[in-house]
Amino acid sequence: MRIIINGICGRMGKEVARLACDGMRNSSLVCGIDAFGTADTEYGVPCYKSFDDAKNICADVMIDFSHHSVTPALLEFCISKNLPVVVATTGHDEKEQELIAEAAKKIPVFHSANMSLGVALLCELAKTAAKTMPDADIEIIEKHHNRKLDAPSGTALLLADAISTVRNSAFYVFGRGGQKKREKNEIGIHAIRMGNIVGEHEVIIGTDTQTITLKHEAHTRALFAEGAVSAAAFLSGKPAGLYAMKDIVE
Ligand SMILES: NC(=O)c1ccc[n+]([C@@H]2O[C@H](COP(=O)([O-])OP(=O)(O)OC[C@H]3O[C@@H](n4cnc5c(N)ncnc54)[C@H](O)[C@@H]3O)[C@@H](O)[C@H]2O)c1
Repeated sequence: MRIIINGICGRMGKEVARLACDGMRNSSLVCGIDAFGTADTEYGVPCYKSFDDAKNICADVMIDFSHHSVTPALLEFCISKNLPVVVATTGHDEKEQELIAEAAKKIPVFHSANMSLGVALLCELAKTAAKTMPDADIEIIEKHHNRKLDAPSGTALLLADAISTVRNSAFYVFGRGGQKKREKNEIGIHAIRMGNIVGEHEVIIGTDTQTITLKHEAHTRALFAEGAVSAAAFLSGKPAGLYAMKDIVE
């Protein structure tokens, strides 16, 4: 699997490049593209400044960890080369989301704001638990380092949204406070910020007689790069369409 990385000079791009050079999932690195990168990468492959500069490159898949504003040019390039693409960049606006959906009618597109296979699995397990125990109370606790700006994390919301698909009329309560009893359909979501925690997500499912705790711990950002390479391998031989982590887990 010959990979092009868009955003190769960034933190995530470098992680993916390392995995591709190590041959994860039979992969190899063909080149990188990075608008603000240096001329050549430390991986012995060229780094192009623009998609146009890379137009003659042959590859099997593009992995994108760059900036959402690059999305129109990225998709145009991939469609013109009939190249499957893993869009791992986040922060797309409505117009860019539409472009991704449109591109997926022409080429295989994998799009996920969280490329962790473990988190995708946690979503599925949490859904199964919520469905199997319809009367149980459900609370989500997420922990991250003290530099994180947003709370709760996008992943905590992703988990709550997944659980909501099997819980009619569920609603979210963020960081419980006050003097009010918990309601049956609540999903409590709690954010903890301390030290250097990379990312922890815990889903607690409890009845009067038992408690189940499902927990995912991220040790390093490399897990997102691993997920992106797995997603790239997943796209191989797939028809045009929009794919996400849940498709890998299923
Ligand atoms: N899906 C996931 O699981 C996941 C995980 C981590 C990060 N991300 C997302 O991946 C993206 C990259 O993350 P990162 O930590 O590697 O960022 P980064 O800033 O370290 O790297 C981004 C790279 O993209 C390049 N780039 C190209 N065009 C750009 C433009 N117009 N503006 C800004 N940069 C441009 C930069 O030069 C840089 O090398 C972000 O959107 C981030 O939120 C997604």
